[in-house]
Amino acid sequence: LRVLSVASEAVPFVKTGGLADVVGALPGAVAPHGVEITTLLPGYPSVLARLPRQRVVHEWDDLLGEPARLLAGMLGDAPLIVLDAPGLFDRPGTPYADAEGQDWGDNWRRFAALSRAAAEVACGAMLVRGKPRRFDVLHSHDWQAGLAPAYLRWAMSDSVPPMPSVMTIHNMAFQGWYGGDVFTSLGLRGEAWSIDGVEYHGGVSLLKAGLVAASAVTTVSPTYAREICAPEFGRGLEGVVAARGGAVTGILNGIDSAVWNPETDDALARQFNARSLERRTVNKRALEAEFGLDASADARGGGPLFIVISRLTWQKGMDVLLETLDHLVETGGRLAVLGSGDAGLEAGFQAAAARHPGRIAVRIGYDEDLSHRMQGGGDAILVPSRFEPCGLTQLYGLAYGCVPVVARTGGLADTVIDANPAALAAGVATGIQHGAVTRDNLAGALTTAATLYRQPEEWARMQKNGMACDFSWRVSGRAYAELYRSLIS
Ligand code: ADP
Ligand code: GLC
Repeated sequence: LRVLSVASEAVPFVKTGGLADVVGALPGAVAPHGVEITTLLPGYPSVLARLPRQRVVHEWDDLLGEPARLLAGMLGDAPLIVLDAPGLFDRPGTPYADAEGQDWGDNWRRFAALSRAAAEVACGAMLVRGKPRRFDVLHSHDWQAGLAPAYLRWAMSDSVPPMPSVMTIHNMAFQGWYGGDVFTSLGLRGEAWSIDGVEYHGGVSLLKAGLVAASAVTTVSPTYAREICAPEFGRGLEGVVAARGGAVTGILNGIDSAVWNPETDDALARQFNARSLERRTVNKRALEAEFGLDASADARGGGPLFIVISRLTWQKGMDVLLETLDHLVETGGRLAVLGSGDAGLEAGFQAAAARHPGRIAVRIGYDEDLSHRMQGGGDAILVPSRFEPCGLTQLYGLAYGCVPVVARTGGLADTVIDANPAALAAGVATGIQHGAVTRDNLAGALTTAATLYRQPEEWARMQKNGMACDFSWRVSGRAYAELYRSLIS
């Protein structure tokens, strides 16, 4: 079974968030189940730089107004194709914005071109050894690839047999909405301009296009699949989701255990497993030194060394965490933050660090290796998200004995077992959950964490329970493979 997976990000080529981790791991996750995924990515500079040779497998004179070609490469053991269209993707900055953080004004065209290319390739545009390569299913991720199912439905010629497609929502908050004037430039049939098509509030919604046109819609946790049927999480598209009814399912993200395994992780000062948790102390001391945190706090019966590895945004509840930092310090805790995002939040954490030297420290930026060292040395990871489709950092925390303290929402609710009295009595807790993201709820969770941390046996039990959880791709790889098969049978 051949699947074409199209997205804007995939590790190790380009990453701004969890989407890249998931798209990069998916081919390996489904391969054991007889599915070959070819991944299509935009030719950003960072992607082209990683292609050893430029093997051209298809060319367009005019792809939404731009000359473009497809280059072949490998993503791990799986095929990769890259859309090389310099007019669209050869730019500095992030995949979506310039160096000042302004979204590129032509994002609709950039990602329409990616989606159009995907639809054509899925239907056999690419030649492999002189023969058209056919795919069985097209799999789109997030708004950047949302138009691909729409092109299958409203642009391919009638002679092409209908191709099943899957649309995966990694985050409903990003929908890719543009003014209605762009519609005529997309090259879709006129019938697509309707309430049952790509039209949304007088404009074009790229995510909605995928939601209505795909054969099946998935999101990245069962709880989020339910949540997006309500306005708070559906962000205006709840009706569209609800109308798809049973076609919308939640398949939990896995973690790539080749990359995230404390027994083999080269980024760690000391590798460890559930039977050698005491070795984490070496990592913790190294982390304290790296962040300039007061190491003697532990000896004085202090609280946990909390970590945060996150985009610093409203979604992630970082504004509420800021309001709770004095409480965190009062309960004896310390905090190391790695992240970047909203300028106001960045400044807020820096100010908190200045107010609490030795207790709170911040690294603004993006650093993959440091994120591993933090998971391997921190006591607890804070994820107070207002919404979280799946979330990966709590899964990495579980695997590394860094106890997750999370909001009870989306994938966080599905992956962490709260240390409530019943779970503690049964010895099954893996972390701490709190309700709505408010200062009081978060403060309560921090107090619970500090209390449990001062009961070393209870704490070690939680760490070991978390490390025993299997959040590898074993289960979810099978679920995606079964979904693809169900669409072609
Ligand atoms: P989201 O995709 O919403 O940002 P996820 O939890 O799904 O949230 O994924 C975030 C990914 O990005 C994880 O792999 C996390 O470790 C990584 N990450 C986030 N911020 C940073 C950072 N500043 N430095 C290194 N890695 C980061
Ligand atoms: C999005 C979500 C996050 C999820 C990731 C990968 O970025 O915000 O919760 O883990 O996609 O699916």
